[in-house]
Amino acid sequence: MMELVKTLRQEHDEIWAFTERMQQMCVDFMENNQFDEQAFRQAIQFIREFADKEHHQKEERLLFRAMTDELGSLAVNLIQHGMLVEHDQARLYVSDLEQAVTAYAQTKEAVHKLNILANATSYCAHIRRHIEKENDAVYPFAERSLKPETIAALEQEFALEQQNKNN
Ligand SMILES: [Fe+2]
Ligand SMILES: [Fe+2]
Repeated sequence: MMELVKTLRQEHDEIWAFTERMQQMCVDFMENNQFDEQAFRQAIQFIREFADKEHHQKEERLLFRAMTDELGSLAVNLIQHGMLVEHDQARLYVSDLEQAVTAYAQTKEAVHKLNILANATSYCAHIRRHIEKENDAVYPFAERSLKPETIAALEQEFALEQQNKNN
């Protein structure tokens, strides 16, 4: 397996574990009316900094770019009309969640509580479906279809990025 793909799969595991924690936060809020604003803000930050900036952008910049460059219309369709649209949908859930958190913190109105629960839950379900598609279909497609020299170039680019990050 490519090192890049191995890392992307590990990041999926972290994001999945995060969705389990966020669902529990939502259950606590729903059942006990415990609203931990700080915890929701941290969750939003985790999604933006890690799930989006770190993980989605690594996919977009490295693997998906190579796939759309090299694998023809099937890949272009799968990436541009599938994965990238889903990354955008995830961003939308998060900004709607953030607005609902701010509104609820200010007013404590039930409609904002509903919007927090709806958007947080939708994000979790959405990102899990997305992760499953990538793990089961998109990454295997890339690994069996990209040219060996493209894979080698991607691995090298990824290794360099990791080095720069650790310095
Ligand atoms: Fe993705
Ligand atoms: Fe992903």
